[in-house]
Amino acid sequence: MASHAIEVKNLYKIFGPRGREYIDLVKNGMSKAELNEKHGHVLGLQDINISMPGGCITVVMGLSGSGKSTLIRHINRLIDPTAGEVLYDGVDVCKMNENDLRQFRRHKTAMVFQKFALLPHRNVLENTVYGLEIQGVDRRESEKRALGWIERVSLKGFEKHYPNQLSGGMQQRVGLARALTNDAEILLMDEAYSALDPLIRVDMQTVLLDLQQELKKTVVFITHDLDEALRLGDKIAILRDGGVVQQGTGQEIVLSPADDYITAFVKEVNRGRVVHVDTLMRPLSGSPEGLPLPAGTVLEAAARTMTGAHINTAHVVDAAGRPIGAIDLQTIIAGMVSPASDSGDRQAA
Ligand SMILES: Nc1ncnc2c1ncn2[C@@H]1O[C@H](COP(=O)(O)OP(=O)(O)OP(=O)(O)O)[C@@H](O)[C@H]1O
Ligand SMILES: [Mg+2]
Repeated sequence: MASHAIEVKNLYKIFGPRGREYIDLVKNGMSKAELNEKHGHVLGLQDINISMPGGCITVVMGLSGSGKSTLIRHINRLIDPTAGEVLYDGVDVCKMNENDLRQFRRHKTAMVFQKFALLPHRNVLENTVYGLEIQGVDRRESEKRALGWIERVSLKGFEKHYPNQLSGGMQQRVGLARALTNDAEILLMDEAYSALDPLIRVDMQTVLLDLQQELKKTVVFITHDLDEALRLGDKIAILRDGGVVQQGTGQEIVLSPADDYITAFVKEVNRGRVVHVDTLMRPLSGSPEGLPLPAGTVLEAAARTMTGAHINTAHVVDAAGRPIGAIDLQTIIAGMVSPASDSGDRQAA
């Protein structure tokens, strides 16, 4: 059975008319700055290897210019690579012929954009059916599907409104409904929420997480916001200068940042929302005490549960409810405090 995974392998992109000629120089270590100075070509991506598991949200983050958009555009081949592969269910998207590529784009992928990209002269319903219209799906069937998704993103009653009558958050809901109506397995979201106000943005993250629980799409989500990455990402890849500097779960990245660049990124993170109780638990000695906490509970939620119940000890249980470790409130609170503050103190001293 197809897993709907995306595998990016040894992917390079050098922008400029003779990109291919410089691949070997880049493979031998020429930096982005040097390539630009000496040869006037821009290193967009270098040796990207990321496996994006099917049914999961993979977040790509990094500063402006680090290559995020370039990477996501390779997945539906809006950009051709200079070298490397982008496999979807084992098939290299970069080698598809025109017809296969058109089918792949139309039926397997949907994009959600930062600027919403709604058609201004079409109302919400007409915008939402757009993809199905292109696919040539029967009008009545298209509208039925579109109305279902409009309802799922809480826009019922706004079907006849035009984009300029909607707030940014509502427009982004239309963008999402339009993408979902396509029924594509892959959802590509490039800074989809970056233009939204913070509260609306968190709302939209919740909408996506709720839908994803049921839909299990292969989502590639780009952001430059670490809190958003940690909230959404089953997996996170961090880019710098076109290369991957670290990839892993949010917890892995926060607990062991690969270098100073990432350490700086994760310094201000609320670890209580990222670190799991099972990371800090100690082996059970004797019978389990206190409340059971499911493995995967984040520290903040555990602390809230334990203080609410006025208890200091708890045990962690696996998916089957079997006790696998013990933890106390003290350990949890210590774990919520970032060790980065120590180094800050040292620097100040
Ligand atoms: N068509 C192009 N021609 C030349 N250089 C390009 C082109 N597209 C992107 N680049 C360069 O490739 C690098 C990566 O750009 P990209 O747009 O992928 O960054 P990004 O991480 O998405 O940034 P942002 O957060 O600002 O959207 C940058 O140095 C950019 O200038
Ligand atoms: Mg971008």
